[in-house]
Formats: sequence, C-alpha cells, structure tokens
Amino acid sequence: MTAFQPGSIRAQFPSDTEETAVPVRLTANGQPVEFPVDPWRSLADVLRRKLGLPGTTVGCESGSCGTCTVLVDGAPVRACLMLAVQADGAAVETVESLAVGGKLNELQQAFQEHGALQCGFCTPGFLMLGTELLRREPAADRERIRECVAANLCRCTGYAGIVDAIASLAAPGPEGPASESSSMRGTA
Ligand code: FES
Ligand code: FES
Repeated sequence: MTAFQPGSIRAQFPSDTEETAVPVRLTANGQPVEFPVDPWRSLADVLRRKLGLPGTTVGCESGSCGTCTVLVDGAPVRACLMLAVQADGAAVETVESLAVGGKLNELQQAFQEHGALQCGFCTPGFLMLGTELLRREPAADRERIRECVAANLCRCTGYAGIVDAIASLAAPGPEGPASESSSMRGTA
C-alpha cells in the first residue's frame, strides 16, 4: 500500500483538511494508493487532481455525456457521479491503463486506424466502454456495440468510426465478421 504523501501528488484540494477528510484506499490502474479526501469529492476530481491521472476528461459533470467513464471493479462508471469515498476498496481503471510502455494498445490503435476520434475529448470514455464490452462480450456484434457506445456522447466525429474500431477487435460471430465496415460514414 502506498501511503499518501503530501506534495507527492500533483494537486491537493485545499479543503481536504484533517477535520473534514476521510481515508480512502483503492487501486488505481493496478497501483494501491491511500489518501485523505473530503467525502463530497467526485471520483473524477480525485483521479484528475489528486492521483495525477488527467486522462479521464470531464464534460457535463452531471452524468449525461459519459466522457468521464472509468472502470470500477471492471464495470463502467461515470466518474463525475461517483464519490471518491464510494470507490474505497475498489479497483479503478482509467484510460492511462491502456497504453503500456508508451505503446498504444489494440483498441487505441483501432480508434486511430478507423478515424474514431477528431477532437478526442470524448475518446477516453469510449475507450473504456469498448474495453469493458470486449472483455465481457468478445464476440459482440455491431448491434451490441452500437447499444454500448450509445451510452456516451460524441459531438464531432460521429459514431461510425467508433463502432468500426471496436468491431474490428470483436471475434467473428455466426452471422459473419463484426468488423464489416459501415457502408456510409456518419451512420454506425
Ligand atoms: S462528465 Fe461525467 S457524464 Fe459528463
Ligand atoms: S471526437 Fe470530438 S467529441 Fe468525440
């Protein structure tokens, strides 16, 4: 367990005082960490500002856009809606866990190859959705992938490339390869 060391993490909340903060222990991308945090701090805030993991982007902060999606004990969670104290004892995975040694993983490469991003703001959330879906349903067909990515919002690229990218890694099902590309861009 890595004990929280003042100054060792990029930014502390000034309000995380001894009077108000409570201890939280969790695993962030495989690393056990322990830190004090005010009970009202969101998991997204803590990941970004306390644990130095800014890859989780925050848009609406109200649960609508899904850009802040991370995996908590393997399940997709909107980190802006979850309190950090609720993640006590959990294993949290963020987009930073995907690339290893500076090398993009398969899904990240697929996003690149299929033009699944433009501004990239929504991308961390879609990558975590896709990661979880492919673990749970490695042979997910395009319909399942569409249902999955419909949980999140992309305002500039559209969904066709995102579906294509995830489908390119899904094992072929009985009705043929999930990776069959969309015939018309802009549709998934
Ligand atoms: S920032 Fe969390 S759902 Fe939009
Ligand atoms: S790539 Fe810009 S919002 Fe999705």
